[in-house]
Amino acid sequence: MAVDAKLLVVTEDHTQAEDIRNRVGQTFPQFLHILPKEVRREISRLQPDLVVLHETKDGMGLQLLPYIAREVPDALVVFLTERRDPIRTRDANRSGAFDILFLPDEITALEDVLNRAVKVLQEKNVKRDTATAFTWGRGNVITFYSGKGGSGRSLIAATLAQTLQLDSTAGVLLVDLNLQYGGLETYMNVTSDRSLYDLTPVLNELNDNHIRSVTVVEPNSQVELLASPADAEIAEQITEEHVERVLRAARLYYDYILVDLPTEMTTLSYTALEEADHLFYVLTPDAPAMRTLGRVLDLFDKIGVDPTDRFELILNRISRDSEISAKDVREHFPYPVIGELHEDAKKIQQFINRGKPIRKSRKERGLPVFARDVQKLAGVLLGKNADKSAS
Ligand SMILES: Nc1ncnc2c1ncn2[C@@H]1O[C@H](COP(=O)(O)OP(=O)(O)O)[C@@H](O)[C@H]1O
Ligand SMILES: [Mg+2]
Repeated sequence: MAVDAKLLVVTEDHTQAEDIRNRVGQTFPQFLHILPKEVRREISRLQPDLVVLHETKDGMGLQLLPYIAREVPDALVVFLTERRDPIRTRDANRSGAFDILFLPDEITALEDVLNRAVKVLQEKNVKRDTATAFTWGRGNVITFYSGKGGSGRSLIAATLAQTLQLDSTAGVLLVDLNLQYGGLETYMNVTSDRSLYDLTPVLNELNDNHIRSVTVVEPNSQVELLASPADAEIAEQITEEHVERVLRAARLYYDYILVDLPTEMTTLSYTALEEADHLFYVLTPDAPAMRTLGRVLDLFDKIGVDPTDRFELILNRISRDSEISAKDVREHFPYPVIGELHEDAKKIQQFINRGKPIRKSRKERGLPVFARDVQKLAGVLLGKNADKSAS
């Protein structure tokens, strides 16, 4: 009997897709096949009820689970893989796969598994349990960008990471994509001799242990930092693939992945912007910075970075003498101002000079104004995700 449920098969392998169609096409006449690279663009438009996600030999697939879980939270996902690897099986389970079938043998069980999934869908009547909505595999990737150096990207990313980690239950990974010395190590007062590049041999099978083996932990807040390589020659060997793989894998293990970007637009920055859920733009309240923002938005348009529902402004270094207010910014640009951070030069300089992170413990007293402003920003961010999971 035909089932009234949309089945989406995601695989690079056309033969595999055809084989699945032959097996279950009669039961699931609403059958669609797309390639893994089309998932990000197509999944929310297609709104499948069931997804069969086939992991290819190079390991792509598992990393798409978080997207699917986010974009179509009610869909049930059956994960097909050729690799009997206990860590990947664990990760697939944690990211909410309905079932896992090992190829080639277990493909014969697919029809049964799908029928079971249909029953579950009917029972749940598509109403999801809100308590589980903010779980594994749905980490938020947030980039920090500005067209102008010295705007405060690195300082804000570091302080927000500490704040989220200390004031909530979230786990935070801070990634420095300024190749060759980005400065996050200074703001976190840690040093690291490892970087993204050291993940090269395991890029296709990244898990939490791999990521942890190249991060350094800031001892007060426990934020993990993935530092930029100190060596220019190593930096040159970092590719878009490094960035894409690490961000996708990190979503499985961290709630927030904060990515500090350099001013120049590189293919690595572009990849991070493509992957991100939030594009934070740090703007100082002056006319030149506003003009730069206009140019950056033109550039995004030209290179195809879509700001819709993602682009958010943080005003930084606000003082009594500021030429421009949040209201002015809102009048000129159709994007929300989600943070307003004050100039706090004296205090911040003291922290930096003494080699101290701005946040050290929960419920700290006497925090500098800047740190309190960042707390408000963290509150907005945490509130947003709470809204998302409640809806
Ligand atoms: N709100 C602020 N108040 C005072 N100093 C700030 C503030 N924001 C940034 N700074 C200072 O400005 C300088 C540049 O900041 P940084 O975060 O490194 O900029 P970016 O990463 O955008 O190039 C640093 O010395 C930092 O301490
Ligand atoms: Mg910086």
